[in-house]
Amino acid sequence: MAKKRTEFEKRLAPYYDELKWLYYELYHDDYAAFDYFIEMLRRMEAQRSDTLKAWDKKRMRRGDWYKDNKRLGMLLYADNFATDLTGVRKHLDYIKSTGVNYLHLMPLLESPEGRSDGGYAVSDFRKVDPRIGTMEQLAALSGECHDADISVCLDFVMNHTSEDHEWARRAREGDRSYQERYFFFDDWSIPNEFEKYVPQVFPQTAPGNFTWCDEAKKVVMTTFYPYQWDLNYRNPVVFNDMTENMLYLCNQGVDIIRLDATPYIWKTPGTNCRNLPEVHTLVRMMQIASMIVCPGTLLLGEVVMEPKEVVPYFGTVEKPECNLLYNVTTMASLWHTVATHDTRLLQDQLHKTFSLPREYVFLNYLRCHDDIGWGLDYNYLKAFGVDEVAHKKYLNDYFRGYVYGSDSRGELYNDDPRLGDARLCGTTASLCGIEAAEYERDEDKKKAGITLDIMLHAFVFSLSGIPVLYSGDEIGQLNDYTYHDDPLRREDSRYLHRGHFNWKDEKKKSKKGTREHEIYTAIKKLTKLRASSKAFCSQADTWLIPTGNDCVVMMGRYYKDEKVLCVFNFSRDTQWIHTDADEDFRDMWTGEAARADDFGIEPYSFKWLVIKY
Ligand code: GLC
Repeated sequence: MAKKRTEFEKRLAPYYDELKWLYYELYHDDYAAFDYFIEMLRRMEAQRSDTLKAWDKKRMRRGDWYKDNKRLGMLLYADNFATDLTGVRKHLDYIKSTGVNYLHLMPLLESPEGRSDGGYAVSDFRKVDPRIGTMEQLAALSGECHDADISVCLDFVMNHTSEDHEWARRAREGDRSYQERYFFFDDWSIPNEFEKYVPQVFPQTAPGNFTWCDEAKKVVMTTFYPYQWDLNYRNPVVFNDMTENMLYLCNQGVDIIRLDATPYIWKTPGTNCRNLPEVHTLVRMMQIASMIVCPGTLLLGEVVMEPKEVVPYFGTVEKPECNLLYNVTTMASLWHTVATHDTRLLQDQLHKTFSLPREYVFLNYLRCHDDIGWGLDYNYLKAFGVDEVAHKKYLNDYFRGYVYGSDSRGELYNDDPRLGDARLCGTTASLCGIEAAEYERDEDKKKAGITLDIMLHAFVFSLSGIPVLYSGDEIGQLNDYTYHDDPLRREDSRYLHRGHFNWKDEKKKSKKGTREHEIYTAIKKLTKLRASSKAFCSQADTWLIPTGNDCVVMMGRYYKDEKVLCVFNFSRDTQWIHTDADEDFRDMWTGEAARADDFGIEPYSFKWLVIKY
């Protein structure tokens, strides 16, 4: 009698041929490495706890759980939010009460102080930074989150390790097999060749893509900071061991793996070393690995790239790569719209995302821990005579409050004077002008800033996918300038919006009239309203509604007999709108009857109009 197939074998079977094909193609038929990979998957599956296996089953039964209209994400640094993991656990009630059911814990694995890039230089993929907690505490927190139906997202920093990682240490000591896990060169000739084509990520704070390693007497590739050594995925050992590290984290209860700096993981001389086809093969293999070992897990790609490079990371509907991607182009286009009061670029961007398959789920957001890069569709803008460099300068001026009428308070990030390519930092509230208004004690300005802040959140909540809040934004937290005085941080303006969560201000959320109250209650209301209409789910039809007014965006959403129209006014004046939406709606915000064919919309405000058939 044939032996009964194990759960692992059943899950491996449908993917085996594809996996083998991809692996052999990338690693030149290295069957020993492939066999090791499969055995590693088997081992990791065996190590997965019964509780997590039950969780996987639950997730698989409702494979589309993350496509509904009930998700709300939040990303936070455990230490900024509540000192450590014990603190996060203590404050889980706050997270829950905000309506959050997807919690992205920013990098918390061991990372050397002062050379950590905010935790993105990992020295041990299996150890939580002792200042933040332990792996046991992380697993316990995930368990508690699961009990409350909260998914946990964690970064998997796969492009590089810290120079203090065990592999890097051995490489530095001259062990060739460990040097082969990185990109080591005897002299600068090949690195100089690379430099001709590879752009710089941190032109100001970490120029160049290579660093001299004095101990090894060699040059090592360091795309990001000099202490972040790029891993060489041409070496199958790196891929095998890193995938194992990823699965190890999944086995601690992490549900969503954020693949940090995804586009960078494959390097070929003579190219820009971004988005190479091999990257897609690697990500697809990691997706397969997770579907076999921990099928309840999702992969979130961090693809902060020009618009045309982003969507391919979803893979195809039949052969997905990432389950989730950041809607980075919409985010940048949204801020562009704030600064120009002209919605045409944003509408074009929406039009493009509306035509994508519904299986592709975006994370929609206003701010995250990183800067805002002005990765807009300049081809589109060119048609209006917009010059890329001049426009970036305008946006950066606008968001620093240098343009007449702007009360934004941002700071530049990595200004590259050669390319005129600076990016921008600041919290949502400060970029919306609330900080300046409070400083000037100008109540009208403050009201306008709060209205804009809420409108932008409403916009993000109107899109298909998962809206994600940046911790602190829910109470309108302002910029934190203390990093200027910290020698370890002052070079990196991203710390402007990485301040400690202000628990004193959080208390003010129950006091009417405060920004904390206004924004917090509005976000809660948006979450509730969004969850109340299935037209907000990712499977809904979405379309743009012409209004004949460039200051306004109007979109429709329809799903199973429910239609919602979402309207946003990006100008400082009331706008009048005429459409042919000739039906009787209900204004979701006020609960009153409303018309959508002929109406006015106040400065910086929005409307959600619903109709059930
Ligand atoms: C990602 C992170 C960023 C970090 C970089 C290097 O882009 O979001 O914060 O600096 O990767 O790891």
